[in-house]
Amino acid sequence: MSQKLKILFAAVLMWGLPATGWPNEVGRLEDQFKALIQKGRALYLHYCAHCHGLTGNGDGYNADHLDKSPAELSNPEFTKKKSNEQIFRAIKLGGAGVRKSHLMPAFGRTLSEAETWSLVAYIRFLGRDHDQPVFLPEDVKRGRPHTPTLEPGVMEAFRKWHHEKGDDPKVLGDGRWLFREKKSCFACHTVNGEGGEVGPDLSRAGFMFTPGWIYSWIRSPQRVKPQTKMPTIGLDDTESRLITAYLSNLGEVKRPADWEPYLKAGGDADNGKKLFFDAKGNAYCSKCHSIQGKGGQVGPDLSYVGVSRTRPFILESILAPKEVITVGYSSVLILTQAGRFLTGVKVNEDDKSIDIINKDGENIHVEKDDIKKFKTQEISIMPGNFGDILSVQEIRDILTYLTSLPPVASEFSAIKR
Ligand code: HEC
Ligand code: HEC
Ligand code: HEC
Repeated sequence: MSQKLKILFAAVLMWGLPATGWPNEVGRLEDQFKALIQKGRALYLHYCAHCHGLTGNGDGYNADHLDKSPAELSNPEFTKKKSNEQIFRAIKLGGAGVRKSHLMPAFGRTLSEAETWSLVAYIRFLGRDHDQPVFLPEDVKRGRPHTPTLEPGVMEAFRKWHHEKGDDPKVLGDGRWLFREKKSCFACHTVNGEGGEVGPDLSRAGFMFTPGWIYSWIRSPQRVKPQTKMPTIGLDDTESRLITAYLSNLGEVKRPADWEPYLKAGGDADNGKKLFFDAKGNAYCSKCHSIQGKGGQVGPDLSYVGVSRTRPFILESILAPKEVITVGYSSVLILTQAGRFLTGVKVNEDDKSIDIINKDGENIHVEKDDIKKFKTQEISIMPGNFGDILSVQEIRDILTYLTSLPPVASEFSAIKR
């Protein structure tokens, strides 16, 4: 590497060094490298920090749940031994692809090559590693990989298979093995008290999700939710079936007797819709939830809740919201240096600040330096008294409305029975 580039790299790593007086070309490269690091930083905070830690120390909140410690990406002793290509390959292929732990997920089916290089640059930046600058290869692919779709007929074939083989002990055992030992699922999901907590606890997956939804989601989560932190794992059809059968068998579909009146078929979807959106009514769900772009952002989007969740689970979410807190919507309590209490759902966090959205839908930005105490609370922002303020018929109507929503994408129509 030229001396000029080395100096440039060292300067950029220390940020803020005045670039004045530098030759134009160096200035241009510096801008390029800074842009690369900025991009890598955002991706890192979104996809990597929960395991590798906000500053790359290997101490993310999820790290304690892993049998293998996430690499210390900010430790020059560690990164110096790796070439840029080696780091690139580890991110692209995941641990299993480079003879490391399967708990490190593969991101090559989720992120573009250019994005992966930006992560390599950011890792060099975290490690203050001056010797191996990162530049985008000239022929780099900038588009994200194509997300697999559900071809017509695949869903039918799955359903038939699931009906016949879904309870077979061999199938369940193979699915469990793939989930825990082979793919990185267990690194992010808890089952019966063990496993990671980046994604939802799947101990009751069979109660919560329809089998068709699990099958379709795990093949390509990005197709449903482009911004999800779950990468596309790259499961083939057999693997998707086995894992789906295993998960669909977890957790009985519990139906307490006093739920029956709510679950009875024949509610009025039109009235349910009215209640959902009526700002003057007792339900007014759209204050916090949106459906196909209409409504608030405090709670999760419910556009595909009817395709993906079982009716008993949706009912449980309405009657007893605190039973399951949807991932990304746990509420935080902040005490500021000035003595102010703030509560809301955390929507963003980086190493300097936190953004929350409170139950009235207001966005609040807090600098970490201004925070005295911070606590994540296992409570729901969603009111717990709908069972008291709405009649059985009203809840039944809302449930009917939610489960009768047309699938968001045409291919999901195959999931609906
Ligand atoms: C679910 C937890 C988890 C997530 C998310 C995760 N990693 Fe890792 N990562 C690990 C673990 C565990 C290891 C250690 C693997 C080993 O040493 O066997 C690792 C190792 C690595 C390594 C070193 C590989 C080697 O060759 O030793 C790199 C580089 C890396 N991760 C980068 C990333 C990047 C970049 C992201 C985000 C795009 C990311 N990781 C997301 C868990 C995770
Ligand atoms: C890097 C972490 C990570 C890995 C690895 C991972 N997941 Fe997830 N998963 C998540 C997150 C986060 C969500 C929540 C989805 C969202 O709302 O963005 C999720 C959601 C899910 C859901 C529920 C979907 C829904 O509609 O809410 C299922 C089922 C699931 N994952 C199964 C799996 C399986 C099976 C694997 C392995 C093949 C896997 N996950 C690997 C993070 C992960
Ligand atoms: C004050 C805001 C608020 C109101 C009003 C509200 N919710 Fe929620 N809801 C939330 C939040 C926040 C979550 C996520 C946390 C949790 O799981 O409890 C949630 C979660 C849910 C879920 C679970 C989604 C999933 O996929 O896990 C369902 C279903 C739901 N709400 C339905 C409703 C219905 C129906 C109404 C109206 C009767 C309603 N909510 C009113 C805030 C609200």
